[in-house]
Parts: sequence; structure tokens; C-alpha cells
Amino acid sequence: MVPRFRDKVAIVTGASSGIGQATAIGLAREGARLMICADRNVAGLEETRLAVEQLDAECLAMQVDVRSHAAVEECVQTTLEHFGTIDIMVNNAGTGQYVAFALMENDEYDRVMDVNLRGTFYFCRAVLPTMMDRDYGKIVNVTSVMGEIAAQGQSIYNASKGAARLLTQGIAVDVTGYNINVNAVAPGMVVTNLTQHMFADEETERFFLDRIPKGRIGQPEDISPAILFLCSDEACYIHGTTIVVDGGMLCTR
Ligand SMILES: NC(=O)c1ccc[n+]([C@@H]2O[C@H](COP(=O)([O-])OP(=O)(O)OC[C@H]3O[C@@H](n4cnc5c(N)ncnc54)[C@H](O)[C@@H]3O)[C@@H](O)[C@H]2O)c1
Repeated sequence: MVPRFRDKVAIVTGASSGIGQATAIGLAREGARLMICADRNVAGLEETRLAVEQLDAECLAMQVDVRSHAAVEECVQTTLEHFGTIDIMVNNAGTGQYVAFALMENDEYDRVMDVNLRGTFYFCRAVLPTMMDRDYGKIVNVTSVMGEIAAQGQSIYNASKGAARLLTQGIAVDVTGYNINVNAVAPGMVVTNLTQHMFADEETERFFLDRIPKGRIGQPEDISPAILFLCSDEACYIHGTTIVVDGGMLCTR
């Protein structure tokens, strides 16, 4: 069988841990060449790079803060100079918010919106010209069930992920006529660096488990197959939509 991503070039943001790391490894396992990036966790990024290279996949790694337009442009330029093309863009970098709305500082608003929305905007816009020139591309934005529904202490996170979902739809409409697919994956509750503090006590973990019909918290490897599917040509008629991967969590609301 021909690997689904043979000869494809993919950028994965937030690839130093969690869902981004699992996605990068999954893409590499099926033949992709990779540019992986993250902001601070250099050790995690290196761990992903080694895992990807062990699969005999070519891999560049770069420290990129997705909030910086210059850094995003440099990352896309470096990828193009090295690989000559970009076929797949996974906007996975993200940050959380755990402050009640009334207590929220302006800086917190900027931080959450800039990582979760502005970063996705910068990367989508930066890769589209080359995708349009070659009339081929797959963009997958990682949103959240918290972009579909609201939760306590998550107001700006909710807003950023809801906006990223609609940004996904807007770009999908704007690339009408091109062989480019733009979609989102909305994870439910997944054990990663972002969330592990929520499972520190049994009571909080039970709170989530009671709302997940599948009866367990997700793992990054529960989410990455949906991202890979949307990056593949099997999903060529799926466009402007969001696949929710949440163990049934949304059904309980
Ligand atoms: N874990 C969950 O329960 C869950 C649920 C829904 C959605 N998500 C989303 O999944 C995505 C991945 O998160 P995760 O759960 O794997 O967490 P994680 O903490 O393991 O990964 C987040 C990644 O984003 C990167 N990142 C953060 N700020 C950045 C910045 N300014 N510039 C560049 N990279 C930056 C981090 O370095 C890291 O690589 C995020 O978009 C998150 O919102 C996670």
C-alpha cells in the first residue's frame, strides 16, 4: 500500500508535546517530510524530531512563536527553501485559560486570542499562496469542544476556539475553485501538558469522566487519526467542517 503522505511536506505547530507531537509522528509514519515548531519547549521539540527521524522521515525543527508574524513568515520561508513546497498545514499550537471572566486581565485576553486565533490566521495566510500556486493543500486547525460550548473560567478560550472554527469556514469559502481543503478538529478532554493539572485531584477527574460517555479521558493518539484523515486525499470532499473527537462529551450537554 502507498503511504498516505508519501512525498508530502507538512508543517505542524505546537509539535513539542501532546496532540501536535502525536500528529507529527503520525504524519511521518505515513511518509511525510516535516517542519515541526513550537515556542518554548525546545527539549520536547527535539524529542519529536528524534521520533520522526527514527521513522526515516526528514524533519526540520524551529522555535516559532505563532503570535509573531515575522517568525511565522520565516518558518514558512525556511520550509519552502528546504523542501520546495508545503502540502499540509496543521495549526495545533494553543494555550489555555483558567481565570474567571470578571478577574481577567487585558494581557490574558491578548495571550489567549493571539496564540489560538492570530497564530492560526498568520500560518493559514502564509501557506495559502504556495498552495494556490500548486493547486493543492490541506489545512487542519485544531480547535476544541470548548469552541462549540462554554465552560466556567474559559470565556476567552471559548471565544478564541469558536472564532478559529469560523475562521476555518471562512477560509474554506475563500478558496473556492482550488484543490485545497480547510477543516478543523475539535478535541474534547485530552491528557496533555495543557490539561494535566486538571487531573491532579480525583474529584476534578471524576467531574470530567462523568461527562464523557466513552468513560475515559482522551490521549493525544485518540485525536491525531482525525487530523491525519483530514490531511489525506481520502477526505477530499470534506471541506469547511469540524470533526469533534471527544468520546461523546458534547452529547452530554
Ligand atoms: N488537551 C486538551 O484537552 C485539548 C482539548 C481541546 C483542544 N485542545 C487543543 O489542542 C492543541 C494542542 O494542545 P495539547 O493539549 O496537545 O497541549 P500541549 O501543551 O501538549 O501542546 C501545546 C503546544 O502548543 C505550543 N504553543 C503554545 N503557545 C505557543 C506559541 N505562542 N507559539 C508556538 N507554539 C505554542 C506548545 O509549545 C506546545 O507544543 C491546542 O490548540 C489546544 O487548545 C486541547
